[in-house]
Amino acid sequence: MAKIALITGATAGIGEACAKLFASAKYNLILTGRRLDRLEKLAASLNKKYDTEVAVCAFDVRDREQVISNFENLPAKWKKVDVLINNAGLSQGLDPIQSGNVDDWDTMIDTNVKGFLYVSKVVSNWMIANGRGHIVNIGSIAGKEVYPNGNVYCATKHAVDALNQGLRIDLVQHGIKVTAIHPGAVETEFSEVRFKGDKERAKKVYVGFEPLVANDVAETIMFVVSRPKHVNINDLVIMPTAQATATNIVRK
Ligand SMILES: NC(=O)c1ccc[n+]([C@@H]2O[C@H](COP(=O)([O-])OP(=O)(O)OC[C@H]3O[C@@H](n4cnc5c(N)ncnc54)[C@H](OP(=O)(O)O)[C@@H]3O)[C@@H](O)[C@H]2O)c1
Repeated sequence: MAKIALITGATAGIGEACAKLFASAKYNLILTGRRLDRLEKLAASLNKKYDTEVAVCAFDVRDREQVISNFENLPAKWKKVDVLINNAGLSQGLDPIQSGNVDDWDTMIDTNVKGFLYVSKVVSNWMIANGRGHIVNIGSIAGKEVYPNGNVYCATKHAVDALNQGLRIDLVQHGIKVTAIHPGAVETEFSEVRFKGDKERAKKVYVGFEPLVANDVAETIMFVVSRPKHVNINDLVIMPTAQATATNIVRK
C-alpha cells in the first residue's frame, strides 16, 4: 500500500515542493492551505503525472474547528498518515516591538504556534492509533537565533523548536519519530508575504547571493523520512552556503 504524507501549507514554497517530491516517490498526499484553487490545480497535476491519490483540505490553520472538522471528515483510509510535514507558517512585518503591528503578532502566533498545535494534536492521535508515523516540523534559523526586528516571528519559531522537542518526548513511547528542519533563507513567497505583497522589497532579500530553493528543503525532508526505522534525525539546520547566520550573508 502506498504511504501517505500530510503536508500543511502546500499551496506554495516548501510545502508545494514537498508535495511534488513525495508524489514522485509514490506517496499519496493530503494537501492543505487556504487557497483551494491552487490545491486543486496541484492535485490534478500530481495525479496526472504520478497517478498520485490526493485529498485536498482547504482551511485556515488558525481556526481550530476547521482544522478538526476537515481532518476528522476525511475517510478512514486517509487517517493512516505516515508522514506529517508541519509546514504552514508565515512572517508578517519586520519592526521593533515598540512600533510593531499587534495584528501581525496575532497572525504569526495563531498560525505558527496555535495552528501548528491544532494539526499536531489530531494527526499525532492518528499516528498513535496506527502505531507508526513521522512528524517533520518546519522551524527556522529564526528558532535558533533572534535577529533585529524579527522579535515575534523568532519567538514563534523558538516555540516550534520547543514543541518539536516536546512532541518527541510525548510520542517516543509510541514509536513515532519527530524531527525539526530549520532552514535559513529560502526563496519562496515567504518574503512577499512578510512584506504584504511588496514584490520589490521581497526580491531584495535574495539579491547578491544564491539562496536555498524550496526543493533543497524538500530533498532534505525526504532524506530524513527515508532513514531506517531505528534512526531518527532530531534537528537539522540547513543554510545557503553564502549564509552563516540570519544577518551574516555574503552578497556579491
Ligand atoms: N522561506 C524562508 O526563508 C523560510 C526560512 C525558514 C523557515 N521557513 C518556514 O517554512 C514554512 C513554509 O514557508 P515558505 O517559505 O514555503 O513560504 P510560502 O511560500 O509563503 O508558503 C507558506 C505556506 O503556508 C500556508 N499558510 C500560511 N498561513 C496559513 C494559514 N493561516 N492557514 C493555512 N495555511 C497557511 C500558505 O498557504 P495559503 O496562503 O494558501 O493558506 C502556503 O502554502 C513556514 O513555516 C516558514 O516559516 C521559511
